[in-house]
This record gives sequence, C-alpha cells and structure tokens, in this order.
Amino acid sequence: MNQDWLEKIRIRIDEVLDRTLGSHLGESNLLDAARYSVLRGGKRLRPALVYAAADAVGATLDSADAAAISVELLHAYSLIHDDLPAMDDDTLRRGHPTTHVAYDEATAILAGDALQALAFSILGKEDSRTDAIRVKQLRLLGEAVGFKGMALGQTMDLESEGKVLSIDQLKIMHTKKTGALFTASILMGAVCGNPNKLEWEAFKEAGEAIGLAFQIQDDILDQIASTETLGKIQGRDQVLGKSTFPGLLGLTASKKEAYALMKIANTALERVSGNTKTLEMLARLSVERTS
Ligand code: IPE
Ligand code: IPE
Ligand code: MG
Ligand code: MG
Ligand code: MG
Repeated sequence: MNQDWLEKIRIRIDEVLDRTLGSHLGESNLLDAARYSVLRGGKRLRPALVYAAADAVGATLDSADAAAISVELLHAYSLIHDDLPAMDDDTLRRGHPTTHVAYDEATAILAGDALQALAFSILGKEDSRTDAIRVKQLRLLGEAVGFKGMALGQTMDLESEGKVLSIDQLKIMHTKKTGALFTASILMGAVCGNPNKLEWEAFKEAGEAIGLAFQIQDDILDQIASTETLGKIQGRDQVLGKSTFPGLLGLTASKKEAYALMKIANTALERVSGNTKTLEMLARLSVERTS
C-alpha cells in the first residue's frame, strides 16, 4: 500500500458515511449526535482492512462498501459507549468533546444504539452481493461484537480495573475488545471473493494478530503520546487502573511484541494466493502509527 491508496480509501469511506447519515434518516438530535461522532475524524483503519482484504481476493471495492461502512459505524458506536462515564469516562475523542459531553448521556447512549442498528441494516441491505455473502457478513459482524467478542472484552476491561491481569488474560481481553472487530473486518472483505479454507484461516490469523498489535500500540500511545496528537486525553489508562501491555511488560517489550505480531500476520498472509501487500502495510501501520 502507499499513502495514496489509504487517502483514497478515506475519502471514499468519508463520502459514503456522510451520505449514509444523510437527510433520509430524518432530522433529530439523535442523528446530529451520530453524525458528530462518525464524521469528525478517525483513521478509518477498519474499513481500510475490509477493502484491502477484498482486494486480496480479487473482489471489487464496490462489493466491499457495505461491510466497510458497517464496521466503521459499529466502531463509532463502540467509541461513544467506551467514553461514557460508566465506562472510561473520557471527555475528548478525535480532538473534540466526547459525544456525551457535546450532547448528553442519554443521547450518546441512544446514538450508539442507533449506529449499531444502522450497521446491521446496511450490511443486510440487498446490493451486488449474493445472499450467501450478505448472510456470512452479518454473522461475522454479529459474532465479533457480542457475547463472545467486543462486548465481552469491554466487560473484562471494566471488571479488571484496579487489578493486575496476567499477560495471557490481557491478551484475551485485547483480542476480544479490539481484535474481534479487526478480524471480522478482514474476513468480511475476504468473503467478497472466494478464498479456500487455508486462505480463510490465514486471513483469520492475520486479523487476530493485527488486532492485538493495534491494541498494544494503543496502550503504548496512551502512555507516551501527547493529548494533542492522540485527540484523546493521554495517560487515562493509568488513572483508571487499567491493565495494559506497557504497564505489565514495559515499553520496549511491548513494542517488540507488537512487531512480532505484525510478523505473524504477514507470514500468515503469505498463504493467500492473491496480492496481500496492502494488508501487510496496514499491519505495519497498526504498529507504527503515532495516533
Ligand atoms: C480506538 O480506535 C479504539 C481502540 C480499539 C483502541 P482507533 O484508534 O481506530 O480510533 P479512530 O477511529 O482512529 O478514532
Ligand atoms: C477501546 O479500548 C476498545 C473499544 C471496543 C472501543 P480503549 O478504551 O483503550 O480505547 P481508547 O483508548 O479509549 O480509544
Ligand atoms: Mg475502554
Ligand atoms: Mg477508552
Ligand atoms: Mg486506549
């Protein structure tokens, strides 16, 4: 991948998101809050993973649009709820006041709910995808964010505040709260083509490794980056007593672990017959990003 590809993808996804959250949804404070949360920045890495995986299996970008939009809407919902006073109690996101601060708590909760619902309805909508692909994508997203995925990971995160997890427990928590949506993003892109069983497993392994590496870097940045570059208040993990990779292993070993995961992802992708260069670059970006 080059920077141009990512920029093009960001423009594409931003345009589609803008249209998706347009006037056809009516006019309400709820929709304003959703637009505020979705359209103000964000790296758009999860949709990029969808498109890159679709590309690796020879599918068109058009066929991956629904999945790309859905993962970003789902992600936006997860951030709104993650920032709530009952969760991480954060006041800054993407350089702006968090949704419950800019609006109010009830509106933020409901905007998150509505974004999650919208993600699934867009994924279920008929377009150029076959019914089989649509159903598989719906199931992948549902399984990634529910009782065995993101929601469970977020629960583990909150329940473990003030406690010291083992490194294995921390890996499980990160894999669920963040890795599950990363893996689903890649698999929802891959399903647009016709990967064989071996390739499917390779995409899955890569997704899990990239997701965990991404969260390790998130923990690292929370410790070392500035509030200004992050667009969120630096140092919150320590204040909240979260178990993090740098907290448990130190910065150097955490960085090493993130790079090792990048290598695992890229080695797995060698088993895919199509061109996985873009995915490999996104794996690197997940580890080397500075915000
Ligand atoms: C933040 O995700 C939440 C985590 C899972 C660590 P991102 O760092 O992708 O957030 P945006 O979308 O770029 O704001
Ligand atoms: C969030 O993890 C994971 C989600 C499912 C949203 P964090 O709580 O570490 O994300 P940030 O640091 O607030 O973006
Ligand atoms: Mg959190
Ligand atoms: Mg948080
Ligand atoms: Mg964090």
